[in-house]
Amino acid sequence: MEKQLQREGLNHLLQLNKDYMSKVRMQSMFNDDPNRAEKFSIRYTDILLDYSKNRLNDETMDLLLKLAKSCDLERKRDAMFSGEKINFTENRAVLHTALRSKEKASLIVDGKDIRPQIQEELKHMETFSDAVRSGKHTGVNNGKITDVVNIGIGGSYLGPDMVCDALRAYSDRDIKMHFVSNVDGADLAEALIKLNADTTLFIVASKTFTTKETIMNANSAKEWFVKSTGQDDISKNFIALSTNTTAVTEFGIAEENIFKFWDWVGGRYSIWSSIGLPVAISVGMDNFYNFLDGAYNMDFHFRHAELKSNMPVIMALIGYWYNNFWQLQTHAVLPYAQYLGKFPSYLQQLDMESNGKRIMHDGHRTSLSTGPIIFGTAGTNGQHSFYQLLHQGTKIVPADFIAFKQNLRGNINHHRALISNFIAQTEALMIGKTRNEALKELKGKGINDSEAETLANHKIFEGNRPTNSILIDKLTPYSLGEMIALYEHKVFVQGVLWNINSFDQMGVELGKVLAVQIENELINNDIDKNIHDDSTIRLMTEASA
Ligand code: F6P
Repeated sequence: MEKQLQREGLNHLLQLNKDYMSKVRMQSMFNDDPNRAEKFSIRYTDILLDYSKNRLNDETMDLLLKLAKSCDLERKRDAMFSGEKINFTENRAVLHTALRSKEKASLIVDGKDIRPQIQEELKHMETFSDAVRSGKHTGVNNGKITDVVNIGIGGSYLGPDMVCDALRAYSDRDIKMHFVSNVDGADLAEALIKLNADTTLFIVASKTFTTKETIMNANSAKEWFVKSTGQDDISKNFIALSTNTTAVTEFGIAEENIFKFWDWVGGRYSIWSSIGLPVAISVGMDNFYNFLDGAYNMDFHFRHAELKSNMPVIMALIGYWYNNFWQLQTHAVLPYAQYLGKFPSYLQQLDMESNGKRIMHDGHRTSLSTGPIIFGTAGTNGQHSFYQLLHQGTKIVPADFIAFKQNLRGNINHHRALISNFIAQTEALMIGKTRNEALKELKGKGINDSEAETLANHKIFEGNRPTNSILIDKLTPYSLGEMIALYEHKVFVQGVLWNINSFDQMGVELGKVLAVQIENELINNDIDKNIHDDSTIRLMTEASA
């Protein structure tokens, strides 16, 4: 009750601060405070977070930090790391952090220390990935594995696909990675074109091993394999990553070819588990260990840094500030790195499946706006498409700009151009362009006065648009691990602020159930007119004609 009153007071003060800040230009805050960039930045190992180009001042941050404390953030964070069953709707611990932990003390879940199990599975991944990479593990006719096809969806696809792509520069180019997720048969069919079944390794990745899309694709892949090789023995070419040993063995994959993980690893947090096996095969286990170490480094920061200099906490609070006080519904993630082209899609699942909720811990509907709509693409590509809206649209879209100081490929001129764009965009979004500046520019180009007057309004940039800049030394397995963990913890903190369970995903169920119902009716050519509306009946009729 006391905390509730405290939160109400803080919300009121934050609202007043917002009213004030909405009249302030960021540029004038930079002019007034030569220390602003330094003050509103956090440097941690190889990462710099500069959040000074945001519509906030000392008071904003002070109030937001108090709000975080009043939500028991530190206690809830510690509860997650210690294995409390914070995913209370599913009665599960949330321990993806244990998968990358270097701590030795026992970590007990349901009466068992999970640390030895984690180490055992990592060893299993190491032995197998080394064997595939060296050619010791061969396909059915003893040929070296040339292609890996990961069959999985959601967290069993987005993570491995994104990370394999992000770490392409570190990969063994003789092993090609393919990812099949969609139940649309075109996905698997296109992936299989030109593949040699003998030397293709299929990884069936599914936490539950009940996901319709994955099981259907796995069955079709098996059929293709048996037909192409003329062999029923799939043991050398099919392995599984799953928590459901029974279902995997029923599918026909031997127990020694199952890489396990556990129900305390959420699907969208599973890249650190055996779901990361495609990454280990592609870049080698040493790099996979570096990836885990990077994430652990961010975990350490999240657990031990003071809230005011805690990167995920600050990013979460800024997101909350815009979402809940400025009513800004979207958040853009804009990596200036082609290798990170898939990072925004990965974050879509991480953030929107975690915080796209409306029921609080007490079972009541929240009155707050919760998870933002996440979107983005690699810079500079986005600049030639949706950035128009970011600069001149009526909506304000807070954005994270991400870049690396050093390049991995391409010459330095390309990299300088890329970095210049990264910096220029955050500056342009903040400073904008006034009508007078636009007029002067037009006239300077020799355009006559009346035409310049007409065009000037179209050339105005209001500016004052908020951005975070995240500048990292170099894209490595380690820094990628840090960055993913940074966003995981940001999402966690926001879930705490909204008092929702970030770790279930019940909103995906209804559509799945109805799809099965409709599929059965289509198979039996028997549309049940009593249960569907007219639009649905018409679509079913037309689609099955
Ligand atoms: O339907 C949503 C979801 O459960 C995600 O949370 C999950 O990552 C994905 O499906 C795949 O699940 P699984 O790994 O069990 O096949």
